Amino acid sequence: MAVIAQQCPHIEVTVVDLNEKRIAAWNDENLENLPVFEPGLGEIVKEARGRNLFFSTEVDKAIDEAEMIFISVNTPTKTYGKGKGMAADLKYIELCARQIARVSKNDKIVVEKSTLPVRTASAIKSILGHTGNGVKFEILSNPEFLAEGTAVSDLLKPDRVLIGGDTTPEGTKAISTLSEIYAHWVPNERILTTNVWSSELSKLTANAFLAQRVSSINAMSEICEKSGADVNEVAKAIGMDSRIGPKFLKASVGFGGSCFQKDILNLVYIAKSYGLDEVADYWEQVIIMNDHQKDRFVNQIIKTLYNTVSDKKIAFLGWAFKKDTNDTRESAAIKVADHLLNEQAQISVYDPKVNAAQIYADLDYLGTRAPKENKDLLSITSSPYDACKESHCVAILTEWDEFKTYDWKKIYDSMLKPAVIFDGRALLNRNELEELGFIYYQIGSGITQH
Ligand code: UDX
Repeated sequence: MAVIAQQCPHIEVTVVDLNEKRIAAWNDENLENLPVFEPGLGEIVKEARGRNLFFSTEVDKAIDEAEMIFISVNTPTKTYGKGKGMAADLKYIELCARQIARVSKNDKIVVEKSTLPVRTASAIKSILGHTGNGVKFEILSNPEFLAEGTAVSDLLKPDRVLIGGDTTPEGTKAISTLSEIYAHWVPNERILTTNVWSSELSKLTANAFLAQRVSSINAMSEICEKSGADVNEVAKAIGMDSRIGPKFLKASVGFGGSCFQKDILNLVYIAKSYGLDEVADYWEQVIIMNDHQKDRFVNQIIKTLYNTVSDKKIAFLGWAFKKDTNDTRESAAIKVADHLLNEQAQISVYDPKVNAAQIYADLDYLGTRAPKENKDLLSITSSPYDACKESHCVAILTEWDEFKTYDWKKIYDSMLKPAVIFDGRALLNRNELEELGFIYYQIGSGITQH
């Protein structure tokens, strides 16, 4: 919404949320306090806020005044009832639709921005269609493909903008109204229009394909470690095939983020609900592989540290699910930490952007042990050198650029020996670290055998 406001100064954009603290943070004079850390976002908010970009808790007023409403609430995996652990929870979407239906006095375009199961638009349409007050709504699907950490550049230069709508004259008109907004900065050939169901399903499909690529290269990373191949070399070799392409072939300790797991589980659920068991099993394997990758990273740590990590200090560099974000949702670090804490390890975490409260909240949410125990076993430092000091090993969980620039000699000198690094992001330079004396494990190329 900030980018739309910046690119279209003649359009008034109001972002509303029930959460007063969040809205206050979006209105904070100090741009460092915005609730989301995203490179370049602060400048955009600075330019547009107060001009044509507003943040408010007056939801009804904003609905009443709007000609177009984007529903952007979260659609987490259901934690109860039918479809528990798989289906998307559409409670918040439905509440939004009901509020829009209750408040609206004139015709509006309602845009699904949240990622939704295919055919959700029909539910929204049904709710909005039964207001009895004669107001007409057009429902569009406009999924968002931005990735975190690069959100601003992805929005300014999207590969494509996808808009799905009804093929009726009213639907076509609504599609062109939304297309015209994007056309202020996106070339026309990159604005793709489809029917609503294709648009909804394309978003789930894109995320499934991306996650599948990561699981595919991670599956190969294990074969590489066994066979003496190096996954980085394999990725380069296959990525030069123009049919495969070089992106999304970086082996890792496992993908995280708010989308991949949730959307694949949702896809699996949809396939099952159509009775397509083979299709469901096929996509579920992407998640199974991802869980396996985290497990085997932990097992590697335990095995290398002489089969016990009890009372051993393990330093974690990185907690975010990827670099350049403070988002930790589904981050591999959470599961890896949880397993190691089960083994009574002492963990010390450093992440450049994630705060202590978030890290404890992530662990407490799992409910594996009491919050006090999490606090006793895991500490958080504001210096990477303190995190690593007197540790048995360092585990790299996020690919923050700054980790490459550390004084690794100083870290080596401060650690217990043998000092081991478990590089879950294939980020550091094996030769340099081995020369310093480290035992160095890298995902997809293993430990050098002497
Ligand atoms: C993803 C999609 O890319 C985006 O289009 C969609 O809108 C939302 O979901 P995001 O979750 O922000 O975006 O991050 P992404 O860059 O896709 O990375 C997801 C996870 O996969 C991260 O944990 C990342 O570290 C991991 N990953 C990615 C790898 O392990 N290897 C890779 O080669 C690429």
